[in-house]
Amino acid sequence: MADVLLPDFRMTQPPRPENSTFDSDPPAAWTFFRQWLKNPLAIAALSPSGRQLTRQMIAELPHDARRVIELGGGTGVFTRALLEHGIARKDLLVLELNEALYQHLSVCFADVHVVCGDARELKSIAAAGGFLDGGPVDAVISGLGLLSMSKRMQGEILRAAFDTLKQDGRFVQFTYGPKSPVPKELLAELGLSVRRGGFAWWNVPPASVYVYTRSRSRAVQAVRTEGKG
Ligand SMILES: C[S@@+](CC[C@H](N)C(=O)[O-])C[C@H]1O[C@@H](n2cnc3c(N)ncnc32)[C@H](O)[C@@H]1O
Repeated sequence: MADVLLPDFRMTQPPRPENSTFDSDPPAAWTFFRQWLKNPLAIAALSPSGRQLTRQMIAELPHDARRVIELGGGTGVFTRALLEHGIARKDLLVLELNEALYQHLSVCFADVHVVCGDARELKSIAAAGGFLDGGPVDAVISGLGLLSMSKRMQGEILRAAFDTLKQDGRFVQFTYGPKSPVPKELLAELGLSVRRGGFAWWNVPPASVYVYTRSRSRAVQAVRTEGKG
């Protein structure tokens, strides 16, 4: 398992005011860009997501979503929007692999569970931190660059994410590509369905939102099996 760094709540740097927007926040954008220069494949974007894309991602949450996991928090544009949407700090887990971005998130979002770790290890990270004690989550919001990942890695991430999700939970993902970043064969293998959500024209670059859920036949099968147990 990858090393898991827990947030250091003793940090003395004051948190950024919560009403600021990161897409117009030069220091955060600069931190993000520096990390992209060091590792463009893993960061997978030149700058943090814009407001239109952020709104469209949040709009795909189930209407009664209470507990959410965010993958690839970056500088925290989705994190901030999730809190503004009403997700309680204790009910939000943010995973970020890049250590500099993880440090940034930990300082900006005190009391949110921010963890430095790999999305492929999501289930064990969430369980180890006690986040799954409250049961499976309603949604996983992913800012990961799935499109630039191998099919194998995509599969590992989706399996880990659906292991933490409720039966009817949603995995919300954006992509800069023209179609779903997860190929049909992998969706079939994992028993998932996909639908296209919004398209953010004003994002740089423009991006589409996709929502993945368990296919109905599999979900019905699972409920029947659970019912028999
Ligand atoms: C395209 S950026 C998105 C950042 C932010 N969510 C946004 O929309 O502005 C992708 C982020 O995923 C992180 N990341 C990449 N691979 C990861 C992995 N395996 N586990 C967790 N985070 C990862 C990167 O470090 C980066 O911060």
